[in-house]
Formats: sequence, C-alpha cells, structure tokens
Amino acid sequence: MSKGKLEKFAMIKEYENCVEPTMEEVMKTGIDLKGQWNKTFFKNNNPITVELACGGGEYTVGMAEMYPNRNFIGVDIKGNRIWKGATKAIKKKLNNVGFLRTRIDFIANCFAKDEVDEIWITFPDPQINKNRRRKRLTNKLFLSRYQEFLKPDGKMRLKSDSDFFYEFTKEIIIEKNLEILFDCDDIYKKYIPQNPNSQLAKELSLKTFYENMWLEKGKTIKYIEYKLANLKIEKNEKLF
Ligand SMILES: C[S@@+](CC[C@H](N)C(=O)[O-])C[C@H]1O[C@@H](n2cnc3c(N)ncnc32)[C@H](O)[C@@H]1O
Repeated sequence: MSKGKLEKFAMIKEYENCVEPTMEEVMKTGIDLKGQWNKTFFKNNNPITVELACGGGEYTVGMAEMYPNRNFIGVDIKGNRIWKGATKAIKKKLNNVGFLRTRIDFIANCFAKDEVDEIWITFPDPQINKNRRRKRLTNKLFLSRYQEFLKPDGKMRLKSDSDFFYEFTKEIIIEKNLEILFDCDDIYKKYIPQNPNSQLAKELSLKTFYENMWLEKGKTIKYIEYKLANLKIEKNEKLF
C-alpha cells in the first residue's frame, strides 16, 4: 500500500538527509546550517549546487550520482515530494545529497555569502497571471536573494517547458545586462543530438517528473544558463 502524506511528513523529519527549519528560523534568525552546510552537513569541502523547486528531486539525485565529489541540495516546500527524492537518495546510499523543506522566499536565510556554486531551477510554475508575478522564481526580487549566497562566478541554470517563463527570464537578463553562458530554446532538437557526448548534454538528459509530463504533451524544453555577477538593484526599484 502506498504511503500517505502524513506518514511521509513524519519520515522526512527522521531522515538525516532532510532539513526542515521552523518558520521562526527561516524568517528571522537564519537556519543553523547557514554557512555551515559543508562543515556540519556534508563534512567535506566540495562545491555546492542547489536545486530550487526540486519536486521529487530528480536533478538533485541524478546530478549527485553523476558528480560524487560535489554536494547537492534540493529545495521545495512540498513534504511528499521531498520524501520521494530523499528516499531515493537513501536507497542509492548517496551521501552528497540533502533536501531542505522550506519556502524559497526565505532562501537567503538558509545559505551564507558565497556558499553556493550553482543554482538549478527545474520546471518552476510559470505564474502567468499578472497578480502572481511576485512568485516567479526568476524575478528581480528572487534574483537579488540568490545573489546574496551565490558565488560571483556562480551559475544560474534554468530548465523550463514554458515559453512565457523562458521569455520572462530572458527579459530580466537583458534588462539587467547579465551574462548569458548558454541559451537554447529546444534542447532535444537543437543541442543534445548534435552534442551527445558533452557533459552538458548528459546533464540536460536527466528528466524530471514534470518534464516527462510536458514532453508527452509535445512541449519543447528550453534551457538557459547565466550569471548574476552584474546584477545591480537600484534603490526603490520595482522588483516584480
Ligand atoms: C511544477 S513543480 C516542478 C517540480 C520538479 N522540479 C519537476 O520538474 O518535476 C514546481 C515545484 O516548485 C515548488 N515551489 C514553487 N514555489 C515555491 C516556493 N516559493 N518555495 C518552495 N517551493 C516552491 C512546488 O512545491 C513544486 O514542487
């Protein structure tokens, strides 16, 4: 019989690879692991990748298998999805994987300056409705939060099925003069077949739960990689 949500929530509280800070910690004081992920959690000094909106953690787990000498942290608010990724990581005995159950809105209280090497955002909800623009994970407000802990030469890596979200993200990149490292509006047609042995093709070939759903519906998958180093937010600037 499949496990219910409450059982999964209880399990992740016991899992050593899961961290579930209180609202008080994430909103006010900052979590104990802020600045300490490598020292206390992973107990090594390897580079850290954070996957935002990780859902079932397909990227976090898949990349951790691909790169045993790097650390991966999946972030999502949904406990049952975190359970899926965390359980998989335990079964695969991956000790370079962590999951953080929290709202991404408070992510800057979870990591210290320069603690993170790269940020993946995988198939975020596009939040097309105008009155949801505050929640788009690549708006200026969120980028300014990520900039607080992403290394200056660190990378943002977005994979999405949504034309709207991809264009929205690019508009901000252009407006803010951010450096684009790679950009492809149809990876399965225009990049992976031409470069099957590249490391990027291997990474992009990992598929998430939502990605598989969108591929079945015939959607094209977009990927853009960029830096936040140039990001400057003016005083009183509208951030979303
Ligand atoms: C469309 S799903 C994609 C999940 C996964 N990356 C995939 O591709 O299968 C978006 C995920 O983002 C999470 N999410 C959206 N906004 C969030 C926020 N502000 N804080 C934490 N999680 C958020 C949702 O809980 C959901 O699991």
